[in-house]
Amino acid sequence: MDLRKLSFPDAPIIKIEPPGPKSKEILDYQFFHEGAAVSYSRGLPMAIKRGRGVTIEDVDGNIYLDFFGGAGVLNVGHSHPAVIEAAADQIRELTHSLDIPNLPRKALVENLFSVLPEGIDKVFFGGPTGSDAVEAAVKLAKFNTQRTGLISFEGGYHGMTAGALSLTSGYPFKESLFSGLPDIHFIPYAYCYRCAFNKHPDSCGIECAQYLEHKLDDPHSGAGKPAAVIVEAVQGEGGTIVPPEGFLPKIREICTKYEVLLIIDEIQAGFCRTGKMFAFEHTQTVPDIMTMSKALGGVGFPISCIAYNRALDTWPPGKHIGTFRGNVIAYAAGNAALTFMKEQDLAGHAAALGNTMLSRLKNMEARSEIIGEVRGKGLMLGVELVEDKASKKPAPLLARDLRTYCHRRGLLIEIGGHYFNVARFLPPLVLTADLADKGLDIFEESVQQVEKSR
Ligand SMILES: Cc1ncc(COP(=O)(O)O)c(C=O)c1O
Repeated sequence: MDLRKLSFPDAPIIKIEPPGPKSKEILDYQFFHEGAAVSYSRGLPMAIKRGRGVTIEDVDGNIYLDFFGGAGVLNVGHSHPAVIEAAADQIRELTHSLDIPNLPRKALVENLFSVLPEGIDKVFFGGPTGSDAVEAAVKLAKFNTQRTGLISFEGGYHGMTAGALSLTSGYPFKESLFSGLPDIHFIPYAYCYRCAFNKHPDSCGIECAQYLEHKLDDPHSGAGKPAAVIVEAVQGEGGTIVPPEGFLPKIREICTKYEVLLIIDEIQAGFCRTGKMFAFEHTQTVPDIMTMSKALGGVGFPISCIAYNRALDTWPPGKHIGTFRGNVIAYAAGNAALTFMKEQDLAGHAAALGNTMLSRLKNMEARSEIIGEVRGKGLMLGVELVEDKASKKPAPLLARDLRTYCHRRGLLIEIGGHYFNVARFLPPLVLTADLADKGLDIFEESVQQVEKSR
């Protein structure tokens, strides 16, 4: 398929500096009537009219290149025609089913089993969001082990419901009175640019992964034997952090040795994003339980799922329930999206185009004083901004300015990272080389502008 046909032609087109007057009116309405925690529309101020492929149009007629892709939801692009058709056909037949089976649900389960690793042979649909999948995974792990403790990683992001938020490391997301789940411990991730152990990846022996063994082995480490370790194979919100190859296998090995379950959270990195169907496949690591959501709903229909080996399927009927675990439109859309991903080899496309983009970004890094590090896998890319390369002092304000400059020129990016100083790209995987170049041209110009204006 010619992927160019999925997006608006000639994007980006900026007719009026965003937010234009129509956007402004809708934004003002939102800020007055909706809660103050509304977030994305503050960083990317506009009101959206429609989306196609890698492009979206705002209500003032501006067309943007969307390198944020709904925070990793829109892997097959906005309004993908085959997905929309599947959803539209389904909406006339049946839309809600609790967990009573139906053909779209069965078709999605079959399709999922064609891509899940060997040994993962049970799926369970949770409530609509990724956080719900995390809650279900944790509950299943606790039920099987009869233990309460959990180990998560610094920089880990697992969602906003109480259990998932407890496993999310970012303090700014937790209000001062938030107490969360008991017995949660955070250990350093392989964030080599800012190594917690002050080591270098070439010679460190992956000390951060080894530290898990210390945590589990030392009776005075502060952590009793936990139910599970939860980890992202590539950290997303933590700043697009790609660990060295040996990291995940080491975590797997230690979990097996200490009989602790390993939950891999694929909510953001899954479904071809990193150049494989699931990010853990880069190192042939198989989790005990995995979480999925975001791109599983095709073009943004809410759905979440966990998958695991049937030996863990010990919970009795009715142990985990919920009204919205039966969104039939999401099953139909997700099935069409997954079929498209497989047929078009979107994983291979993401790997190849991601490599090209990474090289160009690395060239920018070499020329810029404010780019501390560029990193990524497939089409999950991050650019960490610093005040200068020697001090590595995080530069969140420069990152904010960069997002604004990009937006005004027609490119949508978001910001994440420990210090909110990482420009993040999660474009739809139907991105073409031509649009990737146009987006990176805008990004490069904007970095130069930000650098000059310091
Ligand atoms: C890795 C990961 N896990 C869990 C979540 C939570 O998903 P949701 O926002 O749909 O609840 C996210 C969201 O960004 C995520 O990136």
